[in-house]
Amino acid sequence: MISKATDFVHILIANLVAVGDCVVDATCGNGYDTAFLAAAVGPSGHDQLAYWLNHYHLPAPKVVVFNLGYLPGSDKSVRTSAVTTIPAVSQAISAIHTNGAVILVLYSGHPGGKEEAAAVEKWLFELDPKHYAISRHQWINLEGIPPYVLVIQPRS
Ligand SMILES: C[S@@+](CC[C@H](N)C(=O)[O-])C[C@H]1O[C@@H](n2cnc3c(N)ncnc32)[C@H](O)[C@@H]1O
Repeated sequence: MISKATDFVHILIANLVAVGDCVVDATCGNGYDTAFLAAAVGPSGHDQLAYWLNHYHLPAPKVVVFNLGYLPGSDKSVRTSAVTTIPAVSQAISAIHTNGAVILVLYSGHPGGKEEAAAVEKWLFELDPKHYAISRHQWINLEGIPPYVLVIQPRS
């Protein structure tokens, strides 16, 4: 069942990523999402990371994931903000594999979260639709302000 944002993101990653691919967790935090990505690329993905790091030459990532917000159970004032998120997402879009996706999970219920989400969406809206397919995925009957997902895919 796809009952929340993370379920959807996990299915998406499983569909996009193959063993040995390069993937990036842009907001590691406690590393739970990093661990999921690492499992998706398998041991040979880890082996390749060591190889690529040694050679300072990374292949185009298949997936770059941003989980925007603060680290759960931690200091809520240490959180992502549009000032750094937009340049980081821009660089991720430039680097992404032609068959890959930049995935943003937006937690926007905290102070500043709504503003960050609005600024990121405004910036994405201005990207050329001929070059990028951009979609929003959200749950309409969850309590509070549930996280939602934006997916940016290059059109080849
Ligand atoms: C929603 S949490 C991510 C949770 C994480 N993926 C996990 O598995 O625990 C967002 C994280 O982004 C971090 N963060 C804030 N500003 C950042 C920045 N400029 N660059 C990278 N990470 C940042 C926060 O400290 C927080 O840990």
